[in-house]
Amino acid sequence: MFKNFWYAVEFSHDVVAGKPKKVKILGQQLVLYRKTSDNSVVAMSDLCVHRGAALSSGEIKGDCIVCPYHGWEYKPNGEVQKIPAHPDKGIPRKARIDSYPVQEKYMFVWVYMGDLPEEERPPIPDWSDIDDTENYRAVTGEFLWKSNYERILENGVDVAHTPFVHGGVFGNKEKPEVPEFEIETSPWHCKVSVVLNPPNSKGIWGMLNPNKTKDLQQRPPVPVSTTWYLPNMILLDVTTPMGQLKIFDVNVPIDEETTLVKFVALRTFFKGKWADRDARRRVFKVLYEDQAIVDTVRPELLPFDLSDELHVKSDYNAVLYRRRRQELIEAGWSVEGNTIVGEGPARVEQRVIPSPVRKEVPELASAWNFKEVRSKELLRGTADRTARGDVPRTDSLSTSDSTIEEIKR
Ligand code: FES
Ligand SMILES: [Fe+2]
Repeated sequence: MFKNFWYAVEFSHDVVAGKPKKVKILGQQLVLYRKTSDNSVVAMSDLCVHRGAALSSGEIKGDCIVCPYHGWEYKPNGEVQKIPAHPDKGIPRKARIDSYPVQEKYMFVWVYMGDLPEEERPPIPDWSDIDDTENYRAVTGEFLWKSNYERILENGVDVAHTPFVHGGVFGNKEKPEVPEFEIETSPWHCKVSVVLNPPNSKGIWGMLNPNKTKDLQQRPPVPVSTTWYLPNMILLDVTTPMGQLKIFDVNVPIDEETTLVKFVALRTFFKGKWADRDARRRVFKVLYEDQAIVDTVRPELLPFDLSDELHVKSDYNAVLYRRRRQELIEAGWSVEGNTIVGEGPARVEQRVIPSPVRKEVPELASAWNFKEVRSKELLRGTADRTARGDVPRTDSLSTSDSTIEEIKR
């Protein structure tokens, strides 16, 4: 799991005024709430610095949030401004928690889970189609998945599995070959475009589909593209005979083994409300089919060494993902998972992802009570932990370009 990225953590419409909302991401709990003054969203560590109560069970007071335990009042920037037990005493310097940058965009609340200054942050991808309500009809949904988000991400962009896992939906067992594909990449995304021959649609789509021929040769091919965006996002774009279908999906890493998928599915056809249920049902059908396979994949987490699994040409985008991931680990962006207090084994320590103000205001360096989450990079060479298998072996972190070259052929 990686810090320093913008994460879509919740749908905008699910963060309502006057009601704090707990969300979990990267092994940490956050509280989201809307400020009374301008309705903008605040994202803070959900961990009171006094005795560790969850602020998300507290109350919103103006633009502040009040801890439910002893009533400490937090400003949107994470500073405590009132300690009711001692109104006449000063506020301790350490009475502050991390508050993270927030944007509302493309139907989601995006939180910047990291401490880089604005100009160094990776971009939020351009998903402006979601805002184009004139041309697209949107349905949304979410799906809790007991698997690692990177396994899910790789599955989501994998073209070769569709005939086998989604035969009858959009995969075609009669034509499992992955034809030549086009690749478009940047440091933050990889898009694969290919032309497929899916089977005839069923249900409403099948009835209304203009092209019903049973003859595979006669049916128009369907351009499909799958894109991953670092660290956890997917876009599936299908040009069906009826029109365009785009599924935007974020795979929120709650921890290393739990993922909350949130999707926005757009379509340019059957734009009436009557077809919404059917559109949503189709996405869930695909998710259930994927879940049945991905949950059986071992090891549960993606191996750190490229050579631990076999790659063929159709795995090109997955190999690029794994290579980028190694670079991010080497850059110190990975975070140690499974630190959500109150879930799993009881702990005596909670660590948090550092927010930008920790770097921006060096005078406050000693004013942070909660320690920063550990990164795999920082743990490298820590013999005792490595021996327990908590962290990847140092020697397995090498980047292998030869694998990419090999499978290209
Ligand atoms: S635990 Fe929050 S005020 Fe005491
Ligand atoms: Fe799939």
